[in-house]
Amino acid sequence: MAKKPTGKNTSGRGQRDLTVKVKTARGRRLSSTRWLQRQLNDPYVKRAQIEGYRGRAAFKIMELDDKYRFLVPGALVVDLGCAPGGWAQVAVPRVNALGEKSGKAVGRIVGIDLQELEPLAGAEFHQLDFMDEGADDQVKEWLGGKADVVMSDMAASSSGHKQTDHLRIMSLCETAAYFAFDVLTEGGTFVAKVLAGGAEGDLQKLLKQKFKAVANVKPPSSRADSSEKFVVATGFRG
Ligand SMILES: C[S@@+](CC[C@H](N)C(=O)[O-])C[C@H]1O[C@@H](n2cnc3c(N)ncnc32)[C@H](O)[C@@H]1O
Repeated sequence: MAKKPTGKNTSGRGQRDLTVKVKTARGRRLSSTRWLQRQLNDPYVKRAQIEGYRGRAAFKIMELDDKYRFLVPGALVVDLGCAPGGWAQVAVPRVNALGEKSGKAVGRIVGIDLQELEPLAGAEFHQLDFMDEGADDQVKEWLGGKADVVMSDMAASSSGHKQTDHLRIMSLCETAAYFAFDVLTEGGTFVAKVLAGGAEGDLQKLLKQKFKAVANVKPPSSRADSSEKFVVATGFRG
Protein backbone atom coordinates (compact mmCIF):
# COMPACT_ATOMS: atom_id res chain seq x y z
CA MET A 1 0.00 0.00 0.00
CA ALA A 2 1.28 3.51 -0.84
CA LYS A 3 2.52 5.53 2.13
CA LYS A 4 0.33 8.41 3.36
CA PRO A 5 2.18 11.68 2.76
CA THR A 6 2.69 13.72 5.92
CA GLY A 7 3.41 17.04 4.20
CA LYS A 8 6.53 17.31 6.41
CA ASN A 9 9.96 18.02 4.98
CA THR A 10 12.15 15.03 5.86
CA SER A 11 15.04 16.24 3.71
CA GLY A 12 18.37 14.57 4.40
CA ARG A 13 16.97 11.69 6.47
CA GLY A 14 18.03 8.19 5.49
CA GLN A 15 19.23 8.88 1.96
CA ARG A 16 21.75 6.50 0.43
CA ASP A 17 23.71 6.83 -2.80
CA LEU A 18 22.10 4.37 -5.17
CA THR A 19 23.20 5.77 -8.52
CA VAL A 20 21.64 3.85 -11.40
CA LYS A 21 23.40 3.66 -14.77
CA VAL A 22 21.11 3.32 -17.78
CA LYS A 23 22.58 1.53 -20.79
CA THR A 24 21.70 2.70 -24.28
CA ALA A 25 19.22 0.33 -25.90
CA ARG A 26 18.30 -0.34 -29.50
CA GLY A 27 15.40 1.91 -30.50
CA ARG A 28 15.89 4.30 -27.55
CA ARG A 29 17.16 7.76 -28.40
CA LEU A 30 20.16 9.15 -26.51
CA SER A 31 18.02 11.99 -25.14
CA SER A 32 15.53 9.43 -23.75
CA THR A 33 18.37 7.44 -22.15
CA ARG A 34 19.66 10.64 -20.54
CA TRP A 35 16.13 11.56 -19.32
CA LEU A 36 15.68 8.06 -17.85
CA GLN A 37 19.09 8.17 -16.17
CA ARG A 38 18.34 11.60 -14.65
CA GLN A 39 14.89 10.46 -13.50
CA LEU A 40 16.21 7.26 -11.90
CA ASN A 41 18.98 9.14 -10.08
CA ASP A 42 17.00 12.17 -9.02
CA PRO A 43 16.86 12.13 -5.19
CA TYR A 44 13.52 13.96 -5.24
CA VAL A 45 11.97 11.36 -7.57
CA LYS A 46 13.15 8.67 -5.12
CA ARG A 47 11.84 10.61 -2.12
CA ALA A 48 8.47 11.12 -3.82
CA GLN A 49 8.17 7.36 -4.34
CA ILE A 50 9.25 6.51 -0.79
CA GLU A 51 7.07 9.15 0.89
CA GLY A 52 3.99 8.52 -1.28
CA TYR A 53 3.84 11.76 -3.27
CA ARG A 54 2.37 11.86 -6.76
CA GLY A 55 5.41 13.69 -8.12
CA ARG A 56 8.66 15.46 -7.23
CA ALA A 57 6.86 18.83 -7.60
CA ALA A 58 5.50 18.23 -4.07
CA PHE A 59 8.91 19.18 -2.62
CA LYS A 60 8.87 22.59 -4.30
CA ILE A 61 5.73 23.76 -2.52
CA MET A 62 6.98 22.12 0.69
CA GLU A 63 10.21 24.12 0.54
CA LEU A 64 8.43 27.35 -0.42
CA ASP A 65 5.95 26.92 2.44
CA ASP A 66 8.70 26.06 4.94
CA LYS A 67 10.15 29.48 4.15
CA TYR A 68 7.01 31.65 3.78
CA ARG A 69 4.39 29.75 5.89
CA PHE A 70 1.24 30.38 3.87
CA LEU A 71 -0.25 26.84 4.18
CA VAL A 72 -1.49 27.29 7.74
CA PRO A 73 -4.35 25.46 9.48
CA GLY A 74 -7.67 26.90 8.33
CA ALA A 75 -6.35 28.36 5.07
CA LEU A 76 -8.61 28.31 1.99
CA VAL A 77 -6.40 27.33 -0.94
CA VAL A 78 -6.82 27.37 -4.72
CA ASP A 79 -4.40 25.06 -6.55
CA LEU A 80 -4.22 26.06 -10.24
CA GLY A 81 -2.92 23.34 -12.55
CA CYS A 82 -3.12 20.80 -9.73
CA ALA A 83 -2.59 17.50 -11.65
CA PRO A 84 -1.41 14.93 -10.67
CA GLY A 85 -1.90 16.33 -7.14
CA GLY A 86 1.50 16.54 -5.43
CA TRP A 87 1.04 20.14 -4.22
CA ALA A 88 -2.40 19.28 -2.87
CA GLN A 89 -0.93 16.28 -1.00
CA VAL A 90 1.40 18.67 0.82
CA ALA A 91 -1.36 21.21 1.45
CA VAL A 92 -3.94 18.78 2.92
CA PRO A 93 -2.13 18.10 6.24
CA ARG A 94 -0.64 21.61 6.44
CA VAL A 95 -4.00 23.43 6.23
CA ASN A 96 -5.63 20.70 8.35
CA ALA A 97 -8.14 19.94 5.59
CA LEU A 98 -9.06 16.61 7.21
CA GLY A 99 -9.40 18.13 10.68
CA GLU A 100 -6.73 15.79 12.06
CA LYS A 101 -5.08 18.49 14.19
CA SER A 102 -7.61 18.88 16.96
CA GLY A 103 -8.14 22.39 18.23
CA LYS A 104 -6.82 23.89 14.97
CA ALA A 105 -8.91 25.53 12.24
CA VAL A 106 -9.85 23.31 9.28
CA GLY A 107 -8.78 24.50 5.83
CA ARG A 108 -10.00 23.69 2.31
CA ILE A 109 -8.29 23.01 -0.99
CA VAL A 110 -9.92 23.41 -4.39
CA GLY A 111 -7.73 22.31 -7.29
CA ILE A 112 -8.46 22.78 -10.97
CA ASP A 113 -6.74 21.36 -14.02
CA LEU A 114 -7.32 20.69 -17.70
CA GLN A 115 -6.78 17.02 -16.89
CA GLU A 116 -8.81 14.65 -14.79
CA LEU A 117 -7.22 13.64 -11.46
CA GLU A 118 -7.34 10.72 -9.04
CA PRO A 119 -9.35 11.88 -6.02
CA LEU A 120 -7.47 12.88 -2.87
CA ALA A 121 -8.99 12.92 0.62
CA GLY A 122 -9.15 16.48 1.89
CA ALA A 123 -8.96 18.14 -1.54
CA GLU A 124 -11.65 18.88 -4.12
CA PHE A 125 -10.53 18.58 -7.74
CA HIS A 126 -12.35 19.89 -10.80
CA GLN A 127 -11.52 19.57 -14.48
CA LEU A 128 -11.60 23.19 -15.64
CA ASP A 129 -9.55 25.67 -17.66
CA PHE A 130 -8.88 28.58 -15.28
CA MET A 131 -9.11 30.91 -18.29
CA ASP A 132 -12.76 29.96 -18.93
CA GLU A 133 -15.31 32.74 -18.55
CA GLY A 134 -16.59 32.73 -14.95
CA ALA A 135 -13.92 30.29 -13.66
CA ASP A 136 -13.03 32.71 -10.85
CA ASP A 137 -16.62 32.92 -9.58
CA GLN A 138 -17.03 29.16 -9.90
CA VAL A 139 -13.89 28.55 -7.82
CA LYS A 140 -15.05 30.98 -5.10
CA GLU A 141 -18.35 29.12 -4.97
CA TRP A 142 -16.60 25.74 -4.57
CA LEU A 143 -14.31 27.21 -1.93
CA GLY A 144 -17.15 28.84 -0.01
CA GLY A 145 -15.55 32.29 -0.09
CA LYS A 146 -12.40 34.12 -1.04
CA ALA A 147 -9.05 32.34 -0.92
CA ASP A 148 -6.15 32.89 1.46
CA VAL A 149 -3.75 31.31 -1.03
CA VAL A 150 -3.73 30.98 -4.81
CA MET A 151 -0.87 28.73 -5.93
CA SER A 152 -0.04 27.95 -9.54
CA ASP A 153 2.38 25.38 -10.88
CA MET A 154 0.87 25.66 -14.36
CA ALA A 155 3.03 25.12 -17.38
CA ALA A 156 2.08 25.82 -20.98
CA SER A 157 2.83 22.94 -23.33
CA SER A 158 6.38 23.19 -24.65
CA SER A 159 7.02 24.33 -28.23
CA GLY A 160 10.70 23.41 -27.99
CA HIS A 161 11.60 27.05 -28.72
CA LYS A 162 13.03 28.62 -25.57
CA GLN A 163 11.89 32.22 -26.11
CA THR A 164 8.39 31.19 -27.25
CA ASP A 165 8.01 28.93 -24.21
CA HIS A 166 9.17 31.74 -21.95
CA LEU A 167 6.59 34.17 -23.37
CA ARG A 168 3.85 31.52 -23.14
CA ILE A 169 4.46 30.77 -19.48
CA MET A 170 4.77 34.45 -18.61
CA SER A 171 1.42 35.15 -20.24
CA LEU A 172 -0.10 32.16 -18.40
CA CYS A 173 1.37 33.48 -15.17
CA GLU A 174 0.10 37.02 -15.72
CA THR A 175 -3.40 35.67 -16.41
CA ALA A 176 -3.11 33.57 -13.23
CA ALA A 177 -2.16 36.76 -11.33
CA TYR A 178 -5.34 38.53 -12.56
CA PHE A 179 -7.31 35.42 -11.56
CA ALA A 180 -5.72 35.66 -8.09
CA PHE A 181 -6.69 39.37 -7.81
CA ASP A 182 -10.35 38.29 -8.26
CA VAL A 183 -10.21 35.34 -5.90
CA LEU A 184 -7.85 36.34 -3.05
CA THR A 185 -8.90 37.85 0.23
CA GLU A 186 -7.04 40.88 1.62
CA GLY A 187 -3.69 39.80 3.08
CA GLY A 188 -3.64 36.66 0.86
CA THR A 189 -0.68 34.99 -0.86
CA PHE A 190 -0.04 34.25 -4.54
CA VAL A 191 2.59 31.65 -5.47
CA ALA A 192 3.40 30.96 -9.11
CA LYS A 193 5.94 29.26 -11.29
CA VAL A 194 7.73 31.53 -13.77
CA LEU A 195 10.61 31.03 -16.18
CA ALA A 196 13.63 33.32 -16.08
CA GLY A 197 14.25 34.72 -19.54
CA GLY A 198 13.52 38.40 -19.89
CA ALA A 199 9.76 39.05 -19.84
CA GLU A 200 9.21 38.59 -16.10
CA GLY A 201 9.79 42.29 -15.27
CA ASP A 202 6.20 43.27 -16.17
CA LEU A 203 4.77 40.61 -13.88
CA GLN A 204 7.03 41.81 -11.04
CA LYS A 205 5.82 45.38 -11.52
CA LEU A 206 2.19 44.26 -11.48
CA LEU A 207 2.62 42.13 -8.36
CA LYS A 208 4.50 44.85 -6.50
CA GLN A 209 1.49 47.17 -6.95
CA LYS A 210 -0.92 44.59 -5.59
CA PHE A 211 1.07 42.92 -2.78
CA LYS A 212 3.11 44.18 0.17
CA ALA A 213 6.09 41.92 -0.63
CA VAL A 214 7.21 39.96 -3.69
CA ALA A 215 10.04 37.40 -3.53
CA ASN A 216 11.67 35.40 -6.31
CA VAL A 217 12.75 31.98 -5.17
CA LYS A 218 14.52 28.97 -6.61
CA PRO A 219 13.72 26.14 -4.17
CA PRO A 220 16.46 23.50 -3.74
CA SER A 221 14.26 20.83 -5.40
CA SER A 222 13.90 22.88 -8.60
CA ARG A 223 16.43 21.45 -11.03
CA ALA A 224 19.52 23.63 -11.31
CA ASP A 225 19.54 23.31 -15.11
CA SER A 226 15.95 24.55 -15.41
CA SER A 227 15.14 28.24 -15.80
CA GLU A 228 12.11 27.73 -13.57
CA LYS A 229 11.70 29.80 -10.43
CA PHE A 230 8.78 30.88 -8.26
CA VAL A 231 7.28 34.18 -7.21
CA VAL A 232 5.83 34.36 -3.72
CA ALA A 233 3.70 37.48 -3.33
CA THR A 234 2.37 38.09 0.19
CA GLY A 235 0.01 40.61 1.75
CA PHE A 236 -2.54 41.13 -1.03
CA ARG A 237 -3.77 44.73 -0.84
CA GLY A 238 -7.29 43.85 -2.07
C1 LIG B 1 3.57 20.84 -13.68
S1 LIG B 1 1.90 20.36 -13.69
C2 LIG B 1 1.41 20.67 -12.05
C3 LIG B 1 1.93 19.70 -11.04
C4 LIG B 1 1.23 19.85 -9.69
N1 LIG B 1 1.60 21.07 -9.01
C5 LIG B 1 1.55 18.70 -8.77
O1 LIG B 1 2.27 18.89 -7.79
O2 LIG B 1 1.06 17.59 -9.03
C6 LIG B 1 1.14 21.65 -14.58
C7 LIG B 1 -0.35 21.46 -14.79
O3 LIG B 1 -0.92 22.69 -15.27
C8 LIG B 1 -2.09 22.35 -15.99
N2 LIG B 1 -2.57 23.49 -16.77
C9 LIG B 1 -1.93 24.13 -17.79
N3 LIG B 1 -2.72 25.10 -18.30
C10 LIG B 1 -3.87 25.08 -17.56
C11 LIG B 1 -5.08 25.85 -17.60
N4 LIG B 1 -5.25 26.82 -18.52
N5 LIG B 1 -6.07 25.59 -16.70
C12 LIG B 1 -5.90 24.59 -15.79
N6 LIG B 1 -4.78 23.83 -15.71
C13 LIG B 1 -3.78 24.07 -16.58
C14 LIG B 1 -1.62 21.16 -16.84
O4 LIG B 1 -2.71 20.39 -17.29
C15 LIG B 1 -0.70 20.40 -15.86
O5 LIG B 1 -1.38 19.31 -15.25
